Amino acid sequence: MRTPHGALLLLFIVACLRGAYSGGGWSRFTSIISFGDSYADTGNLVMWADPVLPGLLLKNLPYGETFFGHPTGRATDGRLVLDFIAEALGLPSMPLYLARGSNFSAGVNFAVVGAPALNLTYLQGLNLTVNPPINSSLHDQLVWFQKLKPSLCNGQGTDCFGSSLFVMGEFGGNDYISFLLSNRTVEQARPYVPQIVDSISRGLED
Ligand SMILES: *[C@@H]1O[C@H](CO)[C@@H](O)[C@H](O)[C@H]1NC(C)=O
Ligand SMILES: *[C@@H]1O[C@H](CO)[C@@H](O)[C@H](O)[C@H]1NC(C)=O
Ligand SMILES: *[C@@H]1O[C@H](CO)[C@@H](O)[C@H](O)[C@H]1NC(C)=O
Ligand SMILES: *[C@@H]1O[C@H](CO)[C@@H](O)[C@H](O)[C@H]1NC(C)=O
Ligand SMILES: *[C@@H]1O[C@H](CO)[C@@H](O)[C@H](O)[C@H]1NC(C)=O
Repeated sequence: MRTPHGALLLLFIVACLRGAYSGGGWSRFTSIISFGDSYADTGNLVMWADPVLPGLLLKNLPYGETFFGHPTGRATDGRLVLDFIAEALGLPSMPLYLARGSNFSAGVNFAVVGAPALNLTYLQGLNLTVNPPINSSLHDQLVWFQKLKPSLCNGQGTDCFGSSLFVMGEFGGNDYISFLLSNRTVEQARPYVPQIVDSISRGLED
């Protein structure tokens, strides 16, 4: 899943971290608001899947064994880049959007394993297999954010967003994977690249 979007995400993070330094120290950021797929999901899919998908591999070792010692819902045996960013900024791991009853005053993670840039319904309309088959696309995550906005940051509003690190991505890899999972060729996926890139660009601007 090495895509140009991965590079874009990296550039975006680097730009933010440079901003953190120039602001006179790491303390400039008071929370993280994260969107993305398995590169950034710290447990949302597992929250959603339980008990819908009891056989989910993510719920078993070796996921989590290297750092946490138990599965956490991350699609890795250790930590994600997001975990290292939070640690470097001195912030706690952000609460999961799909965990009911979370306190989102110190940030939120909307990322879901498998989340595509294009809508689920649209991809399914192309007869593509989308795994997992849930509405968690970039657009859906932005809708979740709009809904949650009033309760974020203890109602401090835009001042608080000014000191929040927004991490957007990775997105796009799962859109291409849905073609390959559905017995389509790279050539058949290629015409959709502009649409996928456009969805990510618009999401970033939103
Ligand atoms: C949420 O957590 C913050 C500290 O991070 C605390 O000040 C606030 O009272 C909590 N809100 C609720 C409803 O528990
Ligand atoms: C996803 O659906 C929403 C409406 O439900 C629409 O506004 C948006 O443009 C769609 N995005 C894509 C990438 O299809
Ligand atoms: C999807 O499959 C259905 C039924 O096989 C077919 O009628 C439809 O044309 C297909 N749509 C696309 C976009 O391939
Ligand atoms: C996804 O959302 C659309 C409406 O935007 C809905 O029609 C569809 O049933 C939803 N799919 C799932 C799997 O929830
Ligand atoms: C996959 O696609 C190829 C070429 O379009 C076709 O010959 C083959 O039958 C397809 N296989 C399946 C399992 O659909």
